[in-house]
Amino acid sequence: MTFRLAVIGQGYVGLPLAVRAALSGIPTKGIDVNAKWVDAISKNPEEIEQVKHADLQQALVSGRYSATTNPQEVADANVVAICVPTPLDEREQPDLTYLIDAINGFAPSLKPNTLVILESTSFPGTMREVVIPKIVEISGLSSDQLHFAFSPERIDPGNTTWDVQNTPKIVSGANERDLQLALAFYSTFMENVVSVKSLEVAEMAKLLENTYRQINISFINEFARHCQSIGVSVWDVIEAAATKPFGFTRFNPGVGIGGHCIPVDPQYLNWKLHQLGANSQFIELASRVNHEMPEYVASRALDLVNASSREISCLVIGISYKANVADIRESPSIELIKALKKKDVNVSWHDKLISEWNGEKSAPLSADYDVIVLVHQHESEDLVGILQSSTPIFDCTGKYRELANVTSF
Ligand SMILES: NC(=O)c1ccc[n+]([C@@H]2O[C@H](COP(=O)([O-])OP(=O)(O)OC[C@H]3O[C@@H](n4cnc5c(N)ncnc54)[C@H](O)[C@@H]3O)[C@@H](O)[C@H]2O)c1
Repeated sequence: MTFRLAVIGQGYVGLPLAVRAALSGIPTKGIDVNAKWVDAISKNPEEIEQVKHADLQQALVSGRYSATTNPQEVADANVVAICVPTPLDEREQPDLTYLIDAINGFAPSLKPNTLVILESTSFPGTMREVVIPKIVEISGLSSDQLHFAFSPERIDPGNTTWDVQNTPKIVSGANERDLQLALAFYSTFMENVVSVKSLEVAEMAKLLENTYRQINISFINEFARHCQSIGVSVWDVIEAAATKPFGFTRFNPGVGIGGHCIPVDPQYLNWKLHQLGANSQFIELASRVNHEMPEYVASRALDLVNASSREISCLVIGISYKANVADIRESPSIELIKALKKKDVNVSWHDKLISEWNGEKSAPLSADYDVIVLVHQHESEDLVGILQSSTPIFDCTGKYRELANVTSF
C-alpha cells in the first residue's frame, strides 16, 4: 500500500516524524496553525533544533515534504497523525483544547478509509471517549469508514542516540483491522514497531513511562536531601550504587522536573483516576517533593553567601528545562528564580540557547555575582571563566563538585 501522510502539529514531536517519513519516501504534509513557524520550517534556518538541518533540507528538496497552515490538505492524505500539545489548564487538569481545535480544523476534509493516529500523550480513554466520537461527528463519516490508532511519541529532545527512527514505537488500533494498517504504516520507516493489544494499553504505557520517571526523580531529589543531612555526597552514593549491573537505574537530583511531559503526564493519569473515585498516592507525593526542590536549591545557594545587609546578587545558569534544548515549558529554573526573588535576591539568568524570556535578555556569563546557581550546562556552554573564579557556585549537575568554590547536593 502507498501511504500519503499529513502530520498535524509541527513541534518537537510532529516535525521529526514528518521529516523521517518524507526521507523514507512517504509524501508528507506538515500542518501547523502557527504561520510564522510554517514559514521558518519552509526556509529551514540553522537554528531549528527539532530536526537536523541536513535532514529537513533533504526532505524539502526532495519535494516529499512541505509545511502548510491549511488543515484541508489532509484531503490528500490516507494517514493523519495528530501531534498537538496536551498541557494542563490552570487547575492542573487535562486541557484538550488544542486536540479538539485540531480535529475541528482537519476532520471536515477527511476522506473515507483514512487512518487517523493520535501521537499526543493523554489520559486512558482519550481515543475511544473523545477523539473517535469527535472525528466521526465533525467528518460526517462513520467509524467504519475510518481507521483509528494510538501510537505515543517517545521523542527525547537533545538525545543524540535515540531518535524517532530507532526508538521502538508502540502501536495500537481501535480494532484488529486498524492495528494491522497502523503497523504496516509505521513499519515502512521505523526500525522497531511494537504491537500492543488495545488503545488503552498504549495510552497507559506512555503514562507508565513518564510517571516512572517523575517518581524516581522525586525519590532521588529527596534522597539527595537525606545525603546532605547525613553528610555524604549524593553523587558519590549514586556512582557507587550504579556499579550494580542489575536492579538499579540511575536518576540524578536537580532543581525539579520540567518540559512538556514529565510534570504533565502523571497529572493526566491522576485526573483520570479521580474521575474513577481513586487517586495515585505516588504521583501526588512525587509532585510535592519535586515542587519543593526550587526552594531547597535557593536556600542551599544562599547558604554560600556571607550574610550581610546588602542585596545579594545571583546568576542562574540554564533556564531551559534541561541541557541542550531551548524549551522553557514547565522549567524548574523559573520556580528557582521565583524562590530567589522571594528572598529579595537580585536575580539574573543566562542561557546560551534562550536569548530572551519574560521580557528580559540572557545576561552575559560573568563571575561578578555574590553566588551562581548552575542548573545545567548546554554542551556549547564554556564555563571555564566562572569555574576559575572565587565566586561560590551551587552546582546542580554535580560535575564540578570537586572544585574549591563549588558546592553541590
Ligand atoms: N516534547 C517532547 O519531548 C514530547 C515527547 C513525547 C510526547 N510528547 C507529546 O507530544 C505532543 C506534542 O508535543 P510537542 O512537544 O511536539 O509540542 P510543541 O508545542 O513542540 O508542538 C506542537 C505544535 O502544534 C501546533 N498546533 C497547536 N494547535 C494546532 C492545531 N489546532 N492544528 C495544527 N497545529 C497545531 C503548535 O503551533 C506547535 O507547533 C504532546 O501531547 C506531548 O505531551 C512530547
